[in-house]
Amino acid sequence: MNLRNRLTEYVRACFTGLWVESHEHSDALTEIAQLCRDEQWQLATWDIETGLNNPGQAESDTTGYDPLAAIRSVNALATQDGTAILVLQNFHRFMQSAEVVQALSRQIIAGKQNRTILVVLAPVVQIPTELEKMFVIIEHELPSREQIEEIARGIAVEEGELPEGPELQTVLDAAAGLTRMEAENAFSLSLVRQGRITADAVWELKTQTLKKSGLLSLHRGTEDFSRLGGLAALKAFSKRAMLHPNRDNPLKRPRGVLLLSPPGCGKSAFCKSLGKEVGRPVLTLDVGSLMGSLVGQSEERTRQALRIIDAMAPCVAMIDEVEKAFAGMNGNGDSGVSSRMFGQFLSWLNDHVSDVFVVCTANDVSKLPPEFGRSERFDGIFFLDLPSREEKDAIWNIYLGLYEISRDQRLPNDSDWTGAEVKACCRLSALLDVPLVQAAQNVVPVAVTAAESVERLRTWASGRCLSANQPGIYRHANGSSKSRRRVSRDPSNN
Ligand SMILES: Nc1ncnc2c1ncn2[C@@H]1O[C@H](COP(=O)(O)OP(=O)(O)OP(=O)(O)O)[C@@H](O)[C@H]1O
Ligand SMILES: [Mg+2]
Repeated sequence: MNLRNRLTEYVRACFTGLWVESHEHSDALTEIAQLCRDEQWQLATWDIETGLNNPGQAESDTTGYDPLAAIRSVNALATQDGTAILVLQNFHRFMQSAEVVQALSRQIIAGKQNRTILVVLAPVVQIPTELEKMFVIIEHELPSREQIEEIARGIAVEEGELPEGPELQTVLDAAAGLTRMEAENAFSLSLVRQGRITADAVWELKTQTLKKSGLLSLHRGTEDFSRLGGLAALKAFSKRAMLHPNRDNPLKRPRGVLLLSPPGCGKSAFCKSLGKEVGRPVLTLDVGSLMGSLVGQSEERTRQALRIIDAMAPCVAMIDEVEKAFAGMNGNGDSGVSSRMFGQFLSWLNDHVSDVFVVCTANDVSKLPPEFGRSERFDGIFFLDLPSREEKDAIWNIYLGLYEISRDQRLPNDSDWTGAEVKACCRLSALLDVPLVQAAQNVVPVAVTAAESVERLRTWASGRCLSANQPGIYRHANGSSKSRRRVSRDPSNN
């Protein structure tokens, strides 16, 4: 629901304290002003620089730069039988003052009598505890696809400046998640540089924007599934779910997968290549960066990050090492901040209707709260075991080719190796220019250094998770004898 509709509802229901979170005040104000005109509500605005701005009243403003006077001035707007709205811009700046908090609290209650409504317009939500229950929050949503297209059409007025058809769609994809002003800037820059609007120029700007926010990073790689050996069932499942035509129906949209494995089995690599494979950007949420030092800041940033993810749809969102990300979830030491953030994240996982495919990865389930793995949150929970013989063959094949290593040599004993170790061996061999068998002496497999935790993970996953390499549920065959056949040298064997 958009700003206008939500505002209409709340005002009609006489909610007298509204907090509108927006980065684009002029757009938000235009929308509010339009609504007030249509509904014949009185409207005035106030900010610290220009004071009270009341279009209906020619008299000069006496509130000056006094936020307390600004709050009280709403009463002068009240009419016999109508509604009056005062928009206080960037008023979060004054919330440290006890007087302001008190005046707001009094006015919000008094407003019910004369239908005067205070609207705080700010880029963040920072409500003091005293006022928490008095404000409802409305998000000024980022522009829709149609609005972005409108902006593009407004800028690219000459023939040929705006692409049509599928190319236009890729431009709109690229601009999703930008604010109106950012989209405008991106389009103008592209026009100046290339004489037309291109998706690449928009992507460049968007990558910067995300970097500035510091909450998310964007990955647009060139590697697809062909660079990832094995994991056949996981690849097939995710690709099928994501490319399914049902995506138009929010109820039938895929949600994502939870990947569990010992380190180095390709979880992160899978996620990145998935984006390329299905033609979507991959956003990585760095939970550590969400942690803020001020009260409420972490929650605020989490909300902001999730909002950007929603706006970037269609996309893949990766949350790496969730168990570490939300560590301290038992409330120790951080007065429950991480558990609140985790709660926010869980409800988003449940409720989001945007076309976002979430990939969460974890190395240790024992640290994850049990509610995380509840089946309705994900479409599948996959266990990526150490690669099988066939999978390792495929991985060798990829890296022998990539590092241009002669296939005319003996392969080392790779029992219990992960994909990361095969890669490391090939890299060393190429780097030091030594045979693979010699390079292998420097490779210490995780399965050896962390034998116990690998075993624990396997036992836990058995019967609980789907297998990443073959269709169906993963079953751990205790102490299974692995075939130690030598790798095939046939380069076509992939
Ligand atoms: N099946 C595979 N095919 C090709 N490369 C692989 C495979 N598995 C792992 N690799 C390579 O090994 C390296 C490490 O893999 P990756 O980072 O994806 O592991 P991970 O499961 O995310 O590990 P961690 O749990 O430590 O985050 C990557 O460079 C990746 O390309
Ligand atoms: Mg990883």
